[in-house]
Amino acid sequence: MKHLLKLMDWSAEEIIETLNLADQLKYEKKNNIPHHRLAGKTLGMIFQKSSTRTRVSFEVGMYELGGNALFLSNRDLQIGRGEPVEDTARVLSRYLDGIMIRTFEQAEVEALAEYGSIPIINGLTDYAHPCQVLADLMTIREHKGSFKGLKLCFVGDGNNMANSLIVGGIKMGMKVAIACPDNYQPDAEIIAWAKENGEFEMTSSVLDAMKDADVIYTDVWASMGQEGEAELRKQAFAGYQLNAETMAVTAKDSMVMHCLPAHRGEEITAEVFEAHADEIFDEAENRLHAQKAVLCRLLG
Ligand code: CP
Ligand code: NVA
Repeated sequence: MKHLLKLMDWSAEEIIETLNLADQLKYEKKNNIPHHRLAGKTLGMIFQKSSTRTRVSFEVGMYELGGNALFLSNRDLQIGRGEPVEDTARVLSRYLDGIMIRTFEQAEVEALAEYGSIPIINGLTDYAHPCQVLADLMTIREHKGSFKGLKLCFVGDGNNMANSLIVGGIKMGMKVAIACPDNYQPDAEIIAWAKENGEFEMTSSVLDAMKDADVIYTDVWASMGQEGEAELRKQAFAGYQLNAETMAVTAKDSMVMHCLPAHRGEEITAEVFEAHADEIFDEAENRLHAQKAVLCRLLG
């Protein structure tokens, strides 16, 4: 594999090998074993949206791998003034060893890959968040031992997180259930693919989706770029909440995940969040290890 544009492009074997490498890199870090596998390499990181985890984990990850990372904000790059992504791709390919990009349109990430000649990593688009889901899968396996027999449930907006979780969950052989309001469903092609390739349930009933689930995932109701719809979305998503009542139908020892940032009192209550904080912050930590594995595989 040359890029990470979306998880659909990676086989189950490629995902598992990346998770295994992430576990190895985490072990090496915890035991102070140096792993300068990308010495002399430079990653460019283009951000057209805010970020805490993605930015810091990629930057620290490159440093710990012996390489270098450049933070390239939309406000400073000529791309923000209209220079075509096709030209940006060809220029940056002459300086860098790889590009991580966070933007709105998936098509922009695909265009970077088409016109550039270096690995491109999707650091979140409106359509997908593959780096997050690799860290999520790593965390699920760490906490549950394996994916075998697990039911993964997502409650909330059917956009980037739901799209990538469906693909990652089905590829790892988990049963996947999604509860979204009717007008906020995941990508139709991904739903059709999931139905053909695994055990998949799409419902507007939160309790049906959460019933006996081992892993329960949620995300904000209004994503970056949708701030103007926040009030409308609060009404549309009322009831799509992880709280004591909805958590009661889940499996014994179920775990809760959130990509963060979280809005307590909206998609998750403060009580449920704090009760599962260990899992949620292990998940955030694993962004670092999973990202380093992606970097090693693509830039190494
Ligand atoms: N989960 C995630 O991608 O976080 P950031 O937006 O802080 O990068
Ligand atoms: N769905 C959220 C995820 C943030 C990591 C967003 O796009 O803003």
